[in-house]
Amino acid sequence: MDVQQLERTAKELVPPGKGLLAADESFGTLGKRFEAVGIEPTEETRRQYRELLITTEGVGEYLSGVILFDETIRQKASDGRLLTEVIKEQGIIPGIKVDRSTVDLPLAPGEKYTQGLDDLADRLAEYVEMGARFTKWRAVITIGDGIPTVKCVESNARALALYAAFSQEAGLVPVVEPEVLIDGDHSIEHSFEVNEWTLRSTYRALYEQGVHLEGTLLKPNFVINGKDATEKASVEEVARNTIECFMHSVPAAVPGIVLLSGGQSGEDATAHLNAMKSMYETLPWEISFSWARALQGNPMEIWGGDEQNVEEAQKVFHHRARMASAAATGSYSREMEQEQVA
Ligand code: G3H
Repeated sequence: MDVQQLERTAKELVPPGKGLLAADESFGTLGKRFEAVGIEPTEETRRQYRELLITTEGVGEYLSGVILFDETIRQKASDGRLLTEVIKEQGIIPGIKVDRSTVDLPLAPGEKYTQGLDDLADRLAEYVEMGARFTKWRAVITIGDGIPTVKCVESNARALALYAAFSQEAGLVPVVEPEVLIDGDHSIEHSFEVNEWTLRSTYRALYEQGVHLEGTLLKPNFVINGKDATEKASVEEVARNTIECFMHSVPAAVPGIVLLSGGQSGEDATAHLNAMKSMYETLPWEISFSWARALQGNPMEIWGGDEQNVEEAQKVFHHRARMASAAATGSYSREMEQEQVA
């Protein structure tokens, strides 16, 4: 394992003011999002859409990495170049989602387990050949009546640790994503408890597996009330709970924490990230974003599968990436939302 190379890549992924674009939605997830805005989900529409995102001029100023899906890393832009080449020309590092999505966790109603370990070493070797430099694996923890259970938190932590070890052995930086879902009516306090438990279990498993923390990134969710909760936490409360939870559970050796947006709007996720950066001047880790919906929601809708809307969709995508980048340095304000270039 080339520890120094892993450390360099991990640091390169979290320079001040840059974050990740998650463009790694599975067929099912992207299909549902496309259908919701009237786009027919086909191999070609998925290719066109991802091309639209990564060819947006100047977006490399705000993005350090793009997480791709297995289909996408093999696809070409309309000019014949591989999408990974286009990404690199923007000064962005290509990465790849390597989990094979979730299945129902056996003997655990309502809980999920992320699969994909069996042939992982072989797939990673292929992705290295294709130019990927980092990987992502998403575990899902659900809050509900009597859940999560120990078996869910522990089995997902062990899978995340094994995935991270396989990735490092292949020379790829693992982006470890234990997502505690926002679904439900739980309070922010309850979210804090479940997140702290999940993160502590994840880091214990990474330690037991011998994972080199300086060559990893963490992709967690914000600590926030459930989306159906009656009491909504303020922006400052979300920022404080999220940072305090990380302080309790994320080792300082981890170079960067890139939060997921988890179904929040672009503006809400941006305001939460900004508050974290402006309320805490010195933290042991870089803090930034790794967003799918908070960056792509509006652009996808504007594009709608129509070539004529590409330019407008790219403008909006560029704007969201610029807002996220400002939040990652604590310099975002809601007024900046009006600044979108005409
Ligand atoms: O695995 C989840 C995605 O990479 C992040 O998506 O920002 O829409 O939660 P999201």
